[in-house]
Amino acid sequence: MEVLVTGGTGTLGRATVPLLIAADHDVRVLSRRSGPGLTTGDLERRQGLKRALDGVHTVLHLATSGGARDVRAAANLSKAAAEAGVHHLVFISIVGVDRVPLSYYQAKLEAERQLVASGLGLTIQRATQFHDLVVQILRSQRPSPLLFVPDIPLQPIDTSVVARRLVDLVNGEPAGRAPDLGGPRTERFTELARQWQEHIKRARPIVPVKVPGRTFTAYAKGEHLAPEDAVADSPTFADYLGAGNG
Ligand SMILES: NC(=O)c1ccc[n+]([C@@H]2O[C@H](COP(=O)([O-])OP(=O)(O)OC[C@H]3O[C@@H](n4cnc5c(N)ncnc54)[C@H](OP(=O)(O)O)[C@@H]3O)[C@@H](O)[C@H]2O)c1
Repeated sequence: MEVLVTGGTGTLGRATVPLLIAADHDVRVLSRRSGPGLTTGDLERRQGLKRALDGVHTVLHLATSGGARDVRAAANLSKAAAEAGVHHLVFISIVGVDRVPLSYYQAKLEAERQLVASGLGLTIQRATQFHDLVVQILRSQRPSPLLFVPDIPLQPIDTSVVARRLVDLVNGEPAGRAPDLGGPRTERFTELARQWQEHIKRARPIVPVKVPGRTFTAYAKGEHLAPEDAVADSPTFADYLGAGNG
């Protein structure tokens, strides 16, 4: 089956594309760059989409610009996919996009709505935060003598688990909203920070931070968590660090 993966060069895409190839799909990876194995195109600028979608059965839409531009990208992609006669579009979203008023989440929610309105055969998979994101946030403070961490719970998940679920969805028929996907454990962000510091052999004081406002309050209440959809037998954050990441 011909599958076009947007965001196939990103963190989740790099975990997913090899699994799709192993499942015998003919995979095209859309990228703004050109290079071996890449199909060049730009979702925001609507460049290269007609050619990229020609003959495609299923689109796996993982691309993100990390902000409001994702809405335009979703609109452009769904229009081009409908014109190309695509059968199924699978979209990765985030648990709590309808409950946490972070502007990025609002853009993801609006992108979901655009895709639903397009009338395409659709499956939306929401997942909790990736282990990679947790590390990315912590690493961004490497030069600081203190490690400031939001005083919230997290339920991080391994991209390998999300990738496997996405391959199952690509192999299936349009299913609307799939059950959410959450990491195996909910832990305080401060505890994850402690594990990471131990892993990188640093001992800076960890400072839990509370921020006024609705977004922080929603995170503090756990509106971004999916405890009932936790994948119990999957790698924890400690496993992720133990495997040499971080
Ligand atoms: N990070 C998390 O914790 C988390 C949790 C749940 C869901 N998600 C969702 O998972 C998805 C993947 O996240 P990620 O962390 O793997 O992303 P990422 O590493 O930041 O990768 C972003 C990808 O988007 C592509 N892209 C960006 N703008 C594009 C454009 N205009 N046209 C075509 N491609 C474009 C990039 O491709 P090129 O640079 O090659 O063009 C790149 O492959 C996102 O939709 C995100 O919302 C993330």
